[in-house]
Amino acid sequence: MTLATHDVRWGAGGRMIVDGITLSAPPGRILGLIGPNGSGKSSLLRLLCRLRGVASGVVTLDGRDIAALPRRELARRLAFVEQQATTDVQLTVCDVVRLGRTPHRAAFASWTEADEHAVEAALERVGLAERHDQPWHTLSGGERQRVHIARALAQDPRELILDEPTNHLDIQHQLSILGLIRRLGLTCIVALHDLNLASLFCDRIGVLHAGRLVASGSPENVLTPELIRQVFGVEVHIRDGVGGRRHIEYVVDVEPGERP
Ligand SMILES: Nc1ncnc2c1ncn2[C@@H]1O[C@H](COP(=O)(O)OP(=O)(O)O)[C@@H](O)[C@H]1O
Ligand SMILES: [Mg+2]
Repeated sequence: MTLATHDVRWGAGGRMIVDGITLSAPPGRILGLIGPNGSGKSSLLRLLCRLRGVASGVVTLDGRDIAALPRRELARRLAFVEQQATTDVQLTVCDVVRLGRTPHRAAFASWTEADEHAVEAALERVGLAERHDQPWHTLSGGERQRVHIARALAQDPRELILDEPTNHLDIQHQLSILGLIRRLGLTCIVALHDLNLASLFCDRIGVLHAGRLVASGSPENVLTPELIRQVFGVEVHIRDGVGGRRHIEYVVDVEPGERP
């Protein structure tokens, strides 16, 4: 067992934004959340890691209501990489990653060898070991995303939640971040907006539409032309792609040769 939601609801401004969602993360696998802008992905992720409380329903970790877990205990299990995590520009790479150790350290305790080891191991896993002392403001977008993932890994979580971790990255860096996430072998819940990347990297996919879960299952079963038309309002052809994964081809209303 791992992270699950049971008929979870949350609203704001008199509107239901997460509307009765029941899903569970397959242990050690990647659950992708897809859906149009404003469908409730980020809101659901925030409920999953208790940055917000549910209005009704329950989020469970190993069958226990997360609302009843001490914050430190939750933070030792579950790490969140936010979409637009803000970071103090004065910090260096290792300063940022060290923040991930907070839930493991007693108040006023000194920095231990185990803490240092966790930080080094996390930087190693994201391929930035030699960037230890580089100032944050000098990093590229892809490197910043890796450092945020390293901070989450220094937390030593078993569940990792990521909100559009490939945003603003070029295609090479998108593939490399998702490859990295896959190799971690953790239970991951990741909001993605690229359907082909979701198809390539996720073991299961949940589709959100106006706050509701309208489909869930394997990418092969979920990513159908009907579903994509209904939820995203676009026409697609589905082809066989890399490793038997589905490749989604968008049907666009432009005749070949129409270019000026
Ligand atoms: N705190 C809030 N107050 C009012 N509306 C909100 C709040 N948070 C999110 N929303 C609204 O909820 C909807 C879903 O937002 P979000 O969860 O960010 O969607 P997604 O991540 O799928 O783009 C949007 O219409 C957004 O404006
Ligand atoms: Mg979002």
